[in-house]
Amino acid sequence: MQNLGDVKDGQASESGITMPLLAIVYFSISGTTETLAHAVARGAAGIADIALCRIAGDDIVSGRFQNERLLETIDRADVVAFGSPTYMGGPAAQFKAFADASSDRWSEQRWANKIAGGFTTGACAGGDQLHTLTYFSILAAQHGMLWCGIDIPGGEDPSGRNRLGSQLGLATHLVEGALPPSDLTTAEYLGQRLAKMAGRKG
Ligand SMILES: Cc1cc2nc3c(=O)[nH]c(=O)nc-3n(C[C@H](O)[C@H](O)[C@H](O)COP(=O)(O)O)c2cc1C
Repeated sequence: MQNLGDVKDGQASESGITMPLLAIVYFSISGTTETLAHAVARGAAGIADIALCRIAGDDIVSGRFQNERLLETIDRADVVAFGSPTYMGGPAAQFKAFADASSDRWSEQRWANKIAGGFTTGACAGGDQLHTLTYFSILAAQHGMLWCGIDIPGGEDPSGRNRLGSQLGLATHLVEGALPPSDLTTAEYLGQRLAKMAGRKG
């Protein structure tokens, strides 16, 4: 796993094989979404190089997201995972500020054909997480990106992955203050799936 900005285009892995770059762009205050981001990264390890891109409060100046380095990391990525807690039935304002700052890239369709997926969390099982995932998929569509959901039917997986039956992306919620282990294994699966899809892109 590598930190934001440390990954170069076409960088070869230790084995000499060039791997796709997965950028995980997320906002988190109390750490739950960050835990999911790390699980997505674990799932992609060995298949993709990882850039963990945490949106920070001070990336936003006078209401505008101004972390150009983070946006440039996505420019270089083959695959992008969007992550945000669900706040008031949608992505957090800080994530939306990042999305709004991508409009220059949108006008040039600079992120077109990258693979995209998403993950979110909330306090409630039915806490309107779907709306956050729907927003991520619309953001991806605006950029001409190719959306990748989760191919695990809810309630059908022997190990309990995709607990909430969300196939647009990963929806989770806190149970007695913590993420259930199955949400973390689902996040790992999503990371693996996104990385594999990036490798298939042609
Ligand atoms: C302003 C605010 C709005 C929230 N709105 C929702 C919501 O609409 N649905 C929900 O299930 N949880 C909601 N929550 C709970 C958060 O999604 C939850 O605490 C999440 O774990 C926070 O993510 P983080 O630990 O990555 O910061 C809200 C929390 C805050 C602070």
